[in-house]
Amino acid sequence: MNKYMSEKRFLHGGDYNPDQWLNYPEILEKDIELMQKANTNTFSIGMFSWATLEPEEGQFNFEWLDKIMDDIAGIGGNVILSTPSGARPAWMSHKYPEVLRTNERREKMLHGGRHNHCFSSPVYREKIAIINKLLAERYKNHPALLMWHISNEYSGECHCDYCQANFRQWVKDKYKTLDEVNYAWWGPFWSHTITDWDQIESPSPIGENAVHGLNLDWKRFVTDQTIDFYEHEIKDIRQITPDIPITTNFMADTDDLIPFQSLDYAKFSQHVDIISWDCYPAWHNDWGTTADLASKVGFINDQYRSLKQKPFLIMESTPSGVNWHKVNKTKRPGMHLLSSLQFIAHGSDSNLYFQWRKSRGSSEKFHGAVVDHDNSENNRVFREVSLVGEVLEKIQEVKTSDKHAKVAMIYDWENKWALDDAQGFGLETKRYPHTLQDHYRYFWDRDIEVDVVTKEHDLSKYKLVIIPMLYMIDESTMIKLQEYVHSGGILVSTYLTGLVNESDLTYLGGWPEPLQELFGISVLETDTYYPSQYNQITFLDGTTVETKDYQSVIDLLSAKTLASYEKDFYAGTPAVTVNTFGKGQAYFIGARTEVSSLNTIYDAIIEEFDLSNPFVVNGNPVVSVQSRTKNNQDYYFVMNFSEHPQSITVKEETVDIISGETQGKNISLPVYGVKVLKRR
Ligand code: GAL
Repeated sequence: MNKYMSEKRFLHGGDYNPDQWLNYPEILEKDIELMQKANTNTFSIGMFSWATLEPEEGQFNFEWLDKIMDDIAGIGGNVILSTPSGARPAWMSHKYPEVLRTNERREKMLHGGRHNHCFSSPVYREKIAIINKLLAERYKNHPALLMWHISNEYSGECHCDYCQANFRQWVKDKYKTLDEVNYAWWGPFWSHTITDWDQIESPSPIGENAVHGLNLDWKRFVTDQTIDFYEHEIKDIRQITPDIPITTNFMADTDDLIPFQSLDYAKFSQHVDIISWDCYPAWHNDWGTTADLASKVGFINDQYRSLKQKPFLIMESTPSGVNWHKVNKTKRPGMHLLSSLQFIAHGSDSNLYFQWRKSRGSSEKFHGAVVDHDNSENNRVFREVSLVGEVLEKIQEVKTSDKHAKVAMIYDWENKWALDDAQGFGLETKRYPHTLQDHYRYFWDRDIEVDVVTKEHDLSKYKLVIIPMLYMIDESTMIKLQEYVHSGGILVSTYLTGLVNESDLTYLGGWPEPLQELFGISVLETDTYYPSQYNQITFLDGTTVETKDYQSVIDLLSAKTLASYEKDFYAGTPAVTVNTFGKGQAYFIGARTEVSSLNTIYDAIIEEFDLSNPFVVNGNPVVSVQSRTKNNQDYYFVMNFSEHPQSITVKEETVDIISGETQGKNISLPVYGVKVLKRR
């Protein structure tokens, strides 16, 4: 069993940059003392240390790292050792400008910042291979080495000549002939027919992004190219340390925590041993409630867990505030424990921070950290971190447990790219990832566990599968969905589904036939509204709700109408339908409603197919209940995401494993309160 598997503790600690403090030995000593006081055990080191590790070309300096690794081993701690490719030494950019990235306007970038190297540069690949191999050989038997952290937050793209040549080769490998390229990219449109491989280039930023097939393939290439670079980085590491797991830290996009856009993480996740990611919710903001944000945190953590269908790691989070939100507000008392346990509740086996110690200079000197510039344990943030460490020790038995959802939602990266490109509909109202968050919210409010999977996952273990806005869908997915429903699955889809194939070419001859058979309808038109316009739909029981943005005009084939439009030229026609297909049912939600109206559709499904949370008797939308299960033991995380005391009622008495006390069926929680319960 490797060290990671035998580590019983939740990982608690974070990014540690001792290379910034080598001239302050007393600080490095203090770090070791404070690590113990903070109840931390795991540190990620080296992601930005290249200039310290290799101060001159070919001259290596590992002694400082030896000492830090030994010191951490000395307190029984772990090191997640990083490869340093996220930022390079100035000598390298100076001597080999090819390592610098070229932007989409074909301008060579200057040295500076980070995360901006070329993924193709032979020199960069050679230099990183050398240092990664030295690191692996030097530390392969080190008692502190727990895991590899490859680079840092891979992202971005390079448009240099090397990358163009690689893209060209990628296109050649995919299509074999120029005829096939021109077919997939709809060449004759605006005279974009290609007559020589050399004419193929990454999309030009000046040109209205007109060739959608090219845009899509470029994005696919960028993912493949980044994975190829990652595979290059781990080649020797894997061989030298076959038992040490490898990860790289993923991200989310925007303050709304939607899945990171520019890389297809579904693909990338197949190359890492464990998914780890960096989660920075803007708690206490002025645009939504705490529960609004908590639901989004739940969504994305469920997604990153579901990609590999196993526990993941929070590689970075902040104990207080960050430095890059528009407003960098610190967590109110209690929020740190609550938000840390929320990660665990959704399947994380860690809470690691950026950063262990606040740096003294440069752009992250005011970013939250466990150790502040006061260099002391006597402050609120430090105490809250120590408390999290204490609680993680108490709930240690939960580590490695899994989650078992009966409901899944499908998110598809390529679909997001294609939908964003689609010029039509509402240019600002498509909101594909937000629509998934909206549907997820219905379930989060009711404490129903959800996996967020891809269309490639096995769907047969789910009772209900939801595929909002799957605009780009290939025929094999249509058949897979048919098979899922045919053998008893419940499927829900929505407006803007089934319009283009995997090359972003529209389907000819009406809505695709396999979808017509499955849903028992044909979608004739999608009517797009201005943001202030509304239609209304009325359900069979007389309930009426407003619809907005998108209204599908539907022709009923074998389906049954559940709700019809009240207004516009399609008044009286179906808006929501259900079709029996084999042993299952396929629902189609033709129009967008407010989130709060989704209950008119989902309540009946939840009841009919018995999907409600069996533990919760009287739930509360701002109290989230999430469970993890191990060896038939269920653990319930009960979390109050509100600024008021709250309560819920559950089916049975439990034991609170944080306090050790018996917990009755009525559970009361203070502001931001959290309990971890298990069956007696
Ligand atoms: C992450 C990054 C860290 C640090 C952090 C600040 O995106 O990986 O190195 O910059 O953000 O929040």
